[in-house]
Amino acid sequence: TDAHTTGPFIAAIDQGTTSSRCIVFDKDGRIVSVDQKEHEQIFPKPGWVEHNATEIWENVQEVVAGAVVKAGITAADVKAIGITNQRETTLLWDKNTGEPVHNALVWQDTRTDALCKELGRNVGQDRFRRETGLPLASYFAGPKVRWLLDNVEGLRERAERGDILFGTMDSWVIWNLTGGTDGGVHVTDVTNASRTLLMNLHEMRWDERILQSMEIPAAVLPEIRSSAEVYGNAKGGVLDGVPVASALGDQQAALFGQTCFSEGEAKSTYGTGTFMLMNTGETPVNSYNGLLTTVGYRIGDQKPVYALEGSIAVTGSLVQWMRDQMGLIKSAAEIETLASSVEDNGGAYFVPAFSGLFAPYWRSDARGVIAGLTRYVTKAHIARAVLEATAWQTREITDAMTKDSGVELTALKVDGGMTSNNLLMQTLADFLDAPVVRPMVAETTCLGAAYAAGLAVGFWPDTDALRANWRRAAEWTPRMDADTRDREYKSWLKAVERTMGWIE
Ligand code: G3P
Repeated sequence: TDAHTTGPFIAAIDQGTTSSRCIVFDKDGRIVSVDQKEHEQIFPKPGWVEHNATEIWENVQEVVAGAVVKAGITAADVKAIGITNQRETTLLWDKNTGEPVHNALVWQDTRTDALCKELGRNVGQDRFRRETGLPLASYFAGPKVRWLLDNVEGLRERAERGDILFGTMDSWVIWNLTGGTDGGVHVTDVTNASRTLLMNLHEMRWDERILQSMEIPAAVLPEIRSSAEVYGNAKGGVLDGVPVASALGDQQAALFGQTCFSEGEAKSTYGTGTFMLMNTGETPVNSYNGLLTTVGYRIGDQKPVYALEGSIAVTGSLVQWMRDQMGLIKSAAEIETLASSVEDNGGAYFVPAFSGLFAPYWRSDARGVIAGLTRYVTKAHIARAVLEATAWQTREITDAMTKDSGVELTALKVDGGMTSNNLLMQTLADFLDAPVVRPMVAETTCLGAAYAAGLAVGFWPDTDALRANWRRAAEWTPRMDADTRDREYKSWLKAVERTMGWIE
């Protein structure tokens, strides 16, 4: 907390995969206060992941109040609220009661695998790619909506009657924040809508034919709005009356927070998963190498800006799994100490295909493997393989990015919780053979949401003013020789092959 900071301020809410947080920022983009709360991860069956949306909304209210109290401010000091969120996580709720009809299906959940295969056979992969920029995969929201409509007793009738609302977590938070059953606005932004498999990427509207083929009634859908505009005012709570003025999927928010406003600029965020996005300007670029075409952001009625994305499902969550399910470490930070106690991976490779493989493979039938085991291998080698998995997976997507864009990687801008792990950052620079740089404010996700909200209400004049806030805090340069790198990469790719086709 900076005691010298004076208002006004912007509050950003990040409803993420493992926690919800609220950060208050000042005009220089500096953090004034933070509050955060984890929510329960629910795993009903192998491959299934759920969240309790009611718990999440309660946590959001708590962290907003917490951050405001810690900053020692009131609603009058806050010019706007920005929203950012875990993307694709899907919720349906009753608009008359505000009650979710089922737990939210989390983006990592693979239960729609068979449904996606069937849609591929009936409608064709290409149709979806062409209209939405996405491959047909269980990752995205649309098939999750269909699963709920098919599996929750009586839900389809209620949805057709107009009693049910669909939303990703941005919609759920905004609807509740702006009054819920008492006049809450039902909206989503272009970045979140671009992850549903239901939005036409070129025209920014729901695609009628895809809705029909997926049997999703239009009545459940939120209105698609830009990422930076006033959707409504907060009703009740500590920020009563403050305009809710931005929404961006968390990865797009990080792109915004890293001020990647020019074509060719890219960032990679190390959270539960890892997501690299490259700004491709006003044209959507098709990928031929397993990346996604997605909306980067849209400021008010300006033209939308597109991005290419490499998505990795499991990075930070592998460290969490080592801690919670395996009990090999007591805290997430301990992974670095353990991995640093050995020189190398001892021949072990860990491919964490827990939710299948995302970019560049898109194989829902993959499951995790640890390959190369001998009796020599200790838990320290496994810890090392865990960190290397994050670095190799990044290498796979930067390779795809180079092929698709024709732009060689000169440096990688990184952010997110895992960037405090020095060994990981050095390994990343080694495996990419490129420098890795981290900005002063590593909380780029919240910062991006704050920036967008601030632009919408005139708190900041334009994107140039935001760029001026970006400052380099740390840099790692490659130290590995080319032979070692190439040999190790080959072994990694051999291990990746062994994950595929595990699920029939
Ligand atoms: O697409 C999923 C992504 O938005 C989740 O991000 O940081 O909550 O793991 P994170």
